[in-house]
Amino acid sequence: MLFLTLISEAIRRGAEFVTLEVRVSNMAAQALYAKYGFTRRGVRPRYYSDNQEDAYIMTSPPLRDPAYRQQLLQLRDQLLARLAAEGIEILEEAA
Ligand SMILES: CC(C)(COP(=O)(O)OP(=O)(O)OC[C@H]1O[C@@H](n2cnc3c(N)ncnc32)[C@H](O)[C@@H]1OP(=O)(O)O)[C@@H](O)C(=O)NCCC(=O)NCCS
Repeated sequence: MLFLTLISEAIRRGAEFVTLEVRVSNMAAQALYAKYGFTRRGVRPRYYSDNQEDAYIMTSPPLRDPAYRQQLLQLRDQLLARLAAEGIEILEEAA
């Protein structure tokens, strides 16, 4: 929900893309980002100073693309349904 909210805020502010870095070993986060349409665009060698691990650069589709907006709405509905099934209600302002 935090990640989805960040994308929504980027759209609200008129951003064209969202881009991020993620550890090459962080498969869970990469899977989350891929689920939201992000793709690998490059590598930042030794980006993390604690263990010199590389980062993948992952970038969203164009935020203005109507098909991507539709995909985000579907993902949001799925997420809200899953959270509701777990008894977690998200206030509309936060969604
Ligand atoms: C990455 C992280 C934010 C995912 O959060 P989460 O609450 O587990 O997210 P969800 O359960 O809603 O899962 C969302 C998606 O993340 C991916 N995912 C989550 N856990 C996963 C795992 N153990 N293995 C592979 N993919 C995983 C899946 O794509 C999943 O979608 P799916 O359930 O439809 O397959 C969480 O693992 C986390 O907090 N990690 C530590 C901090 C971190 O790595 N932050 C990112 C730094 S770049």
